[in-house]
Amino acid sequence: MNTHYWVVDEGVDNLCEHPQIKAAAQLLKDQQVVAFPTETVYGLGGNAQSDDAIDRVFQAKGRPSDNPLIVHIASRDLVYDYVSTVNKKAKQLMDAFWPGPLTIVFPHNGTLSTKVTAELPTVAIRMPDHPVALAILTEAALPVAAPSANTSGRPSPTTADHVFGDLDGKIAGIVNGGPTGVGVESTVIDCSGEVPMILRPGGLTKEKIERVVGPVDVDPSLIEEQEAPRSPGMKYTHYAPIAKVTLVEGTDSFFQRQIDKAKQEGLGVGVLVTEEKAGSFEGVTTVTCGTRDNLASVARGLYGALRQFDDHGEVDVIIAQVYPETDIGQAIMNRLRKAAANRIVVENEE
Ligand code: TXA
Ligand code: MG
Repeated sequence: MNTHYWVVDEGVDNLCEHPQIKAAAQLLKDQQVVAFPTETVYGLGGNAQSDDAIDRVFQAKGRPSDNPLIVHIASRDLVYDYVSTVNKKAKQLMDAFWPGPLTIVFPHNGTLSTKVTAELPTVAIRMPDHPVALAILTEAALPVAAPSANTSGRPSPTTADHVFGDLDGKIAGIVNGGPTGVGVESTVIDCSGEVPMILRPGGLTKEKIERVVGPVDVDPSLIEEQEAPRSPGMKYTHYAPIAKVTLVEGTDSFFQRQIDKAKQEGLGVGVLVTEEKAGSFEGVTTVTCGTRDNLASVARGLYGALRQFDDHGEVDVIIAQVYPETDIGQAIMNRLRKAAANRIVVENEE
């Protein structure tokens, strides 16, 4: 398949009138799949009312079809077209955080493809905060299911180049709107119970959510992930890069010892650290993501950094720093744990 490739300057006025946006929207109307930027990561969009389009999304990604997709809408009110009820807390969250990196799980009304919802009674919906995404959604005038636009099992794409590397030739189009701002996927929350529950930590922090709706729960299985994996390589490899990742928690000298150990085993060593530590290690491939005093910058750089190791080819193991689990640090650590299949070495536990 010949993949159309468009570059769109997100700063220009009247994006909907731009030929690139119109062409991308037309492909969606023709049940083709198109990658476009959102504020979190690039999404691979398909018409959420079309079984054919959704089949194409799953096929291009090589994603198992029992994993439901997030539906993207161009304005808040459109949610009522696809769900049966919007309760008070869900409404408060929509009003406070849409458009933005928050996905809300609602009971659906049966109007979307059952392939989007994986036959569940619920549907996950969000309104993205990106001018290019909103223009495409508006112009297509469709609900658009969009998982991250990566090959299943690779880190999510935060640039159009990442998408191109994974999906060129497999999808109808790629809209390049520059690097994404948040860098990790949206937070997924289910508001159907008495207390809302975060199902996936992401771009919108728990702290911000709680300021609007009061205390929320976190899916217990996310907390379990902090313990030893019961089945390494099964449940936790979703974001895994090619090299094996180990997270290291402890002092600088403990970190250095882990590097030395891996080198002695004859392994090609990669180190994933913040910029402050860029020049600190010898004989390894160092990749940085953001600065320690700015966790948002770490989130923004994380997936691109993991991809750099994949592209490098000579790295067998990646030794990575850990981050405080406050604010966006919760999403960072959730993704890093998955990338590491839960391998974490803690200094005082050695
Ligand atoms: O930031 C994002 O959310 C990106 C961009 C492209 O918008 N999209 C994204 O989609 O991350 P995806 O398909 O990679 O992730 C969908 C997540 C999965 O964790 C899935 O299990 C969950 O949402 N999900 C979808 N529908 C659900 C439902 N009905 N109930 C519970 N979880 C659901
Ligand atoms: Mg994904």
